Order: sequence, then C-alpha cells, then structure tokens
Amino acid sequence: MTAPRTPAHGVLADRYGRVARDLRVSLTDKCNLRCTYCMPAEGLPWLAGPQLLTDDEIVRLVGVAVGRLGVTEVRFTGGEPLIRPGLPGIVSAVAALTPRPRISVTTNGIGLARLAPALRAAGLDRVNVSLDTLDPARFATLTRRDRHADVLAGLAGAAEAGLTPVKINAVLMRGVNDDEAPALLRFALAHGYELRFIEQMPLDAQHGWDRSTMVTADEILAALRSEFALRPDPAERGAAPAETWLVDDGPARVGVIASVTRPFCGDCDRTRLTADGQVRNCLFATEESDLRAALRGGADDDELARRWRAAMWGKRAGHGIDDPTFLQPARPMSAIGG
Ligand SMILES: C[S@@+](CC[C@H](N)C(=O)[O-])C[C@H]1O[C@@H](n2cnc3c(N)ncnc32)[C@H](O)[C@@H]1O
Ligand code: SF4
Repeated sequence: MTAPRTPAHGVLADRYGRVARDLRVSLTDKCNLRCTYCMPAEGLPWLAGPQLLTDDEIVRLVGVAVGRLGVTEVRFTGGEPLIRPGLPGIVSAVAALTPRPRISVTTNGIGLARLAPALRAAGLDRVNVSLDTLDPARFATLTRRDRHADVLAGLAGAAEAGLTPVKINAVLMRGVNDDEAPALLRFALAHGYELRFIEQMPLDAQHGWDRSTMVTADEILAALRSEFALRPDPAERGAAPAETWLVDDGPARVGVIASVTRPFCGDCDRTRLTADGQVRNCLFATEESDLRAALRGGADDDELARRWRAAMWGKRAGHGIDDPTFLQPARPMSAIGG
C-alpha cells in the first residue's frame, strides 16, 4: 500500500481526516501590554520591518486561503493586532473577498473604544477581548501596564458598535487571579458579554509554565458552581475550542478552553499564518512553512495554495503536551498569534 500523499487540489486536509476552515492571522508580534504569562517585562526581540508581511501580502495570502483552500473564518490576532495601522484596510479588503469569510479580532481591548466603529464599518463581525481581572491594581501587576479602564472602555465600545457577541477571554493564574472566576462571570452576564476561560498553556516566552501549578478546567468549573448552576450546553460543539455550559438554565453561557486537561486536537480546524508569513499547522508545531519567501520569489496563487496544503497535510494528531518528549515551540504565543 502506498502512503497517502498531499492532495493536489481542494481544501486544507490532513492525514487524520481534519479540514482547516479557520485561519488565525498574526498581524504583529509586538504588544502594548506585558502579561506575565505571555512575555517578559522587557518585551521580546521583535520582528524587523522587512520581515513582516505588508498589508497587501496579508490580503493576498488570506485571499488564497479563502478562494482556493476553503477557509471560511478569518481571525486577526498577534501580538496586539490593534496596533497595526493598516488593520481597518486589511479588514475591508478581506471582507471584499469571495466567498466572504467571517472576520473577527482577538485583542487586549486597548484602543478598541476608538477603533470599533471604523472596524465595524470595514466589515469586522466580532471581537474577543482579553480580560483576566476586574481589579485595576491586579491588572497593572498582571499586565505590567496601568490600562484596565481602557480595556473596559474597549469592551463597551465594541458592544456599542455592534461587534457582537463580544467575547471575553480570561486566563486564571494560581495565587494571582484564581479567586475571580465567579466575579468575572457576574461581570460578563451583567454586560451581555460571553466569557471563556483559557487554561494556561506552555507558550510563554520565558518558559515559566508549570503543569503542577496551572489552574485546571475542573477547578474553574468548581469555582463557578459555588455561585451558578451550570448545565452542559446542548448546542453542537463542532470544532469550537471552548466547551460551553448554560448558566442558570441559560440563555447565557460560559465556556472553558481546556487545551491542556481536555485537549480537542481531534476536532481542530485551525491553520495559522504568522506576521512574517510562516504557515503553522498547530500552535505547538515545531515546523513552519515559509509562504513569504515563496510569495516574494514570485510564486503564483496556485503554488502558494499547494505549499499551504502540504504544510497542513503534515499536521500531527495532537499537541502532545502530556508526552515526555514534548518540546515547547521556539516561538512564543505572542509571535505565533494566539
Ligand atoms: C496571545 S494573545 C494575542 C491577542 C491579544 N494581544 C490579546 O491578548 O487578546 C491571544 C490570547 O492568548 C492568551 N494567552 C497568551 N498567552 C497564553 C498562555 N501561555 N496560555 C494560554 N493563553 C494565553 C491571551 O490571554 C489572549 O486571550
Ligand atoms: S496576552 Fe495579548 S495582551 Fe497580553 S502580552 Fe500577550 S499579546 Fe500582549
């Protein structure tokens, strides 16, 4: 029997039968916060200007993904995507693609109050805003910047501009903010935001992650149940990373992305493009495929699509965090695009 080969046409399939429809695009590795679970106080050696894809190059590659490879969802992230000046133009060019993908942004919310109307007008559908604490002093410790009020204003501005449902991402850290799960949910319910907790993953630049101290999905759910009745959401989960629960019989929901303790790799439908034009088939991949070099070397769209398919065909069955041979990828989350 011959080994299956990369398909020459069609969607982004892998040898385990998964198909990637959801593209995460990192627009920059830079950030205006310094969350302790993400990067060191001094920041990181940022990508140099010429290494970054230009706005036009990003739109061209997203166009290949949407037009030839079956991608239906495009999420802009980083680093902090709102600090990329070309963001509204990129969104509007991607919204003009056929078939039009759904477009969202994952952001820390700083500047969102000001930018939300323009992003909405450009065609942005939705935002995920990261907020780990309701306490401004804690926020300053956790992110090393005193910007809590900007994030709250960003959330409100997004809702007002119609970038809904506004989702909140929260990471809990033991001894830092792990007492805030019920309060964060109360806050989200009061404002009509959808809250999702993310288990902390070994993707920090400092390699400080420790399985034995991370706050698990079970602990988060137990803390929430001290105040709320949670019932498994009857809605089909599909490829969504968050497992969701109805809160006090709904319709409000809360989600937990338990990448470590309840991995969902078997249903993963994601493909990733870094700010310097590398395709990654997984957050935890240790290999990348250089589309920037191909693009700048004159490759046509068929060739770019062929390379992208080949990169996804090699996707591993799972991230292997629990495997003794697990190696944290060289790029931290902020440089991959979370
Ligand atoms: C890398 S950030 C990029 C977008 C934007 N700067 C933000 O914070 O939303 C995307 C998401 O990844 C989360 N994140 C960062 N490092 C993480 C880690 N080590 N484990 C789990 N989530 C992490 C952040 O909390 C955020 O919700
Ligand atoms: S999690 Fe987001 S906001 Fe925080 S440092 Fe990382 S990239 Fe910046």
